[in-house]
Amino acid sequence: MFAIDADRQPSPEWEARGSEAMLVFELRRQYTVSIMNTSSKDTSNQIVSVLQSRRSLRALDTREIGADVLERIMTAATLAPSCSNKQPWRYLVARGEDALSRVRLRLSEGNYWARRAPVIVLVITRDDLDCRLDDDRNYAQFDTGMSVMAMLAQAEAEGLYAHPMAGFDSVGLRGDFGIEDGYRLLTVIAIGYPGSIEVLNEKHQAAERSERDRKPLSDVVRYDSW
Ligand SMILES: Cc1cc2nc3c(=O)[nH]c(=O)nc-3n(C[C@H](O)[C@H](O)[C@H](O)COP(=O)(O)O)c2cc1C
Repeated sequence: MFAIDADRQPSPEWEARGSEAMLVFELRRQYTVSIMNTSSKDTSNQIVSVLQSRRSLRALDTREIGADVLERIMTAATLAPSCSNKQPWRYLVARGEDALSRVRLRLSEGNYWARRAPVIVLVITRDDLDCRLDDDRNYAQFDTGMSVMAMLAQAEAEGLYAHPMAGFDSVGLRGDFGIEDGYRLLTVIAIGYPGSIEVLNEKHQAAERSERDRKPLSDVVRYDSW
């Protein structure tokens, strides 16, 4: 497991990646310490550590991701729950140069950093692949989102960044890959090992070092009445 516990020391693999990687490791370790300290109860460390340490970071290394690692990540995505076990998620994993360059060309300008990713996963579903209830509840996107979260958690556990994006030309990309009408191309996910933050613009370098930003619990959780 990669997730950085507060008392976790860098592995030899991290050390071998040089001072930049060590800086990333230290920043993430400090982040874990800070989130544990700022929570109101000691039980905060019961939050699964991959959820604590996962961030949508951008400083990607171009290093290849092993097929075994990638398979574990994609397998994790299939372990999510779904309505009547319909499993509506579909994934197109771009890892060859041809496929990757098609995706890169469709990324928005602000997602320039994702062009370095050795793997980009296209997240696809179709409404009729999942439960559709009369009162306007359609579960394909909901269940696919849960599947993506499992994917992100496994990537985190493997020591990888996995960063979902809405900033891409969905119509163009669907056309490039011949994804038929009816399918929704919801998001693309850049996956890669942590790399140097020097490749990022200033705004993104600052984001890389920033604390996680979340609404207070009281804004999003209500107990016993609406
Ligand atoms: C559906 C979706 C679309 C997103 N689109 C982008 C994007 O186009 N570019 C980007 O840099 N980040 C994108 N993000 C990342 C979010 O900005 C990030 O998840 C959010 O700021 C919370 O930060 P955290 O993931 O580090 O906790 C997206 C995330 C999701 C779930």
